[in-house]
Amino acid sequence: MRHFIIDCDTAEDDVLSLYLLLKNNIDVVALTIVEGNILYDQEIKNALWALEQVSREIPVYPGANKPLIKNYMTVEKVHGKGGIGDILVEPKRLKAKEKHAALAIIDLASKYAGELEFLAISPLTNLALAYLLDNSIIKKIKKVWIMGGAVFGIGNITPVAEFNVWVDPDAAKIVFNAGFDITMVPWDVIINYPVTDEEWNLIKNMRTKMSELYVSMYSHYRKYSSTIQKINGHPHPDAITTAIAIDERVAIRKEKRFVVIDNTDNITRGMTLVDRFDADTSWSDKPNAEIVYEINKKRFMEKIYDLLNWF
Ligand code: BDR
Ligand code: CA
Repeated sequence: MRHFIIDCDTAEDDVLSLYLLLKNNIDVVALTIVEGNILYDQEIKNALWALEQVSREIPVYPGANKPLIKNYMTVEKVHGKGGIGDILVEPKRLKAKEKHAALAIIDLASKYAGELEFLAISPLTNLALAYLLDNSIIKKIKKVWIMGGAVFGIGNITPVAEFNVWVDPDAAKIVFNAGFDITMVPWDVIINYPVTDEEWNLIKNMRTKMSELYVSMYSHYRKYSSTIQKINGHPHPDAITTAIAIDERVAIRKEKRFVVIDNTDNITRGMTLVDRFDADTSWSDKPNAEIVYEINKKRFMEKIYDLLNWF
């Protein structure tokens, strides 16, 4: 059995990612919550609420509620006031843990040493903090899956920066330089595989509890992505990353590359510069991440349909 921590800034695609892990029999040992999409308290509530919807009790550890150094902004305009649309959900039974997420990561890395996988569909503040507190987690965490950055320079929060890396580029720099075994799934790759009108209608007609939840969670985001972001539907940044983590065959083409993060506080903040050609230039170094370039959309959507047929 595979053991995962899922690190969330809990909006719709984070919730769906959690459900994908559970549906695919991954042992989710913890959810860690980090600053990002919406107000921090609501991110925690969403995580607890999401677990209640599938009757699961998994520890939820709040952690960093702001980036290491910089200021950031939440993006309710993208995901709705509550991150899963405008609805503000309240968990009924579950409560968050007291322990800080960074400490939980360190403890769980020891408990599952050599086996633990970290799924970061979120800014990297919690993982960077854990690493700064205890460098030995590099050897204990088997794999780090990251939804973040861009490989061709097409961002979403700025023209060149993807949101997760932009929120805390200092944390991202620490994590990318630390020596983890990283797979990075870039924003400007996943936007090539949005959920089309045909697929959206098919999902609407499924009429399972999960598909109805899906439609209610994604309606706000879909409107934003298809109008403002001019995407042909809504993309699944976090869910595609999660599907690749579950089943590497969802990624068709991957290359090991050197990635450097622009953590300066200027207009290129959060940009990920990927040495795509492995050029022997002064700024480049040996590969520090595996970059996903192409996705098997059919295989990914099979996982989505399978999940939406759960109940
Ligand atoms: C990423 O940023 C967040 O808005 C999403 O949850 C996703 O993790 C996309 O840039
Ligand atoms: Ca996310």
